[in-house]
Amino acid sequence: MAPALSIRKARPEDIERVLELWRDAGATPKPTDTPPDLARLLAQAQAVLLVAEADGRVVGTVVGGWDGWRGNIYRLAVLPEYRRRGIAGALMREVDAVLAGLGARRITALVEHDHAWAVGFWNALERAGYRHDPTMTRYVKTF
Ligand SMILES: CC(C)(COP(=O)(O)OP(=O)(O)OC[C@H]1O[C@@H](n2cnc3c(N)ncnc32)[C@H](O)[C@@H]1OP(=O)(O)O)[C@@H](O)C(=O)NCCC(=O)NCCS
Repeated sequence: MAPALSIRKARPEDIERVLELWRDAGATPKPTDTPPDLARLLAQAQAVLLVAEADGRVVGTVVGGWDGWRGNIYRLAVLPEYRRRGIAGALMREVDAVLAGLGARRITALVEHDHAWAVGFWNALERAGYRHDPTMTRYVKTF
């Protein structure tokens, strides 16, 4: 039987668990994977870190940010043993609703094109309105 799933906003006491989950999920490490960066994120009114809970523990995450112009998705991750149960899809429905509530009319997700599992997921999200955009190239500056 599929585990009961609940989705809620992350709390400060979730921070260490969320960082551990990103490691366990194989999410590509990022410079902002630190407790202070996550604490700052949780204090933002214009961004949200959602966690999915099943079997009494955090099994998935997503970050949604609203910059006043666009919504952006980061850190969508589900523990390997909980995949293919619709958890990432459920997280995306929730974060879409949060970002729309903040005013977003357009939401972007950056997806590593050599991560077939991630591309597979995002291609499947076409039914939720997400379309692959082949016209863009990304530029990044890290401080
Ligand atoms: C990508 C990821 C978040 C998907 O999580 P998930 O909870 O397994 O996704 P869902 O169960 O909601 O999948 C919904 C649909 O997406 C597609 N999909 C999901 N995983 C897939 C995969 N590995 N290969 C191909 N398609 C996939 C399927 O169509 C799936 O529906 P189905 O199971 O009925 O066939 C998860 O694999 C993960 O955490 N990967 C590591 C971190 C990562 O790469 N994150 C993405 C950053 S952009």
